[in-house]
Amino acid sequence: MSNMKYRDALFDLANNAMSKAYVPYSRFPVGAAILTKTGKLYAGCNVENAAYPEGTCAEAGAIAAMVLDGETQIQDIYVIGKGEELVTPCGGCRQKIREFSSVDTKIHICGAEGVRKSLTMNELLPFSFGPENLEQAS
Ligand code: THU
Repeated sequence: MSNMKYRDALFDLANNAMSKAYVPYSRFPVGAAILTKTGKLYAGCNVENAAYPEGTCAEAGAIAAMVLDGETQIQDIYVIGKGEELVTPCGGCRQKIREFSSVDTKIHICGAEGVRKSLTMNELLPFSFGPENLEQAS
């Protein structure tokens, strides 16, 4: 699956999702967009609430939409946030993405101007624990 073909669509989807973020507490909107191996697209934004740690990340929203639609294989995920720093997925989201990743899954960290850095799942979460570990248990 060529990610070049979908690059603009994924960026736009993530960017539009960021504009929908519900972030009255952090004021830090994040958007995420997923391309599955089957060519389907999903988006998510972060959604906060008054009990601060109970908020959900943009990546979690996009993954939930994907799974609800019956899809479980991420080809590419775009994440976009504000500012000059790389808005990389938090530790919890790295594990959530890992569940639906393969060796060629790419995580693209974006800013307003476009993709700033593209990483493999193994670069983002090396020595990760995944579904295979459970399968190997006897
Ligand atoms: N956040 C995300 O949604 N995704 C990330 O990759 C980094 C952090 C959210 C969580 C919280 O709503 C806000 O950004 C500030 O941490």
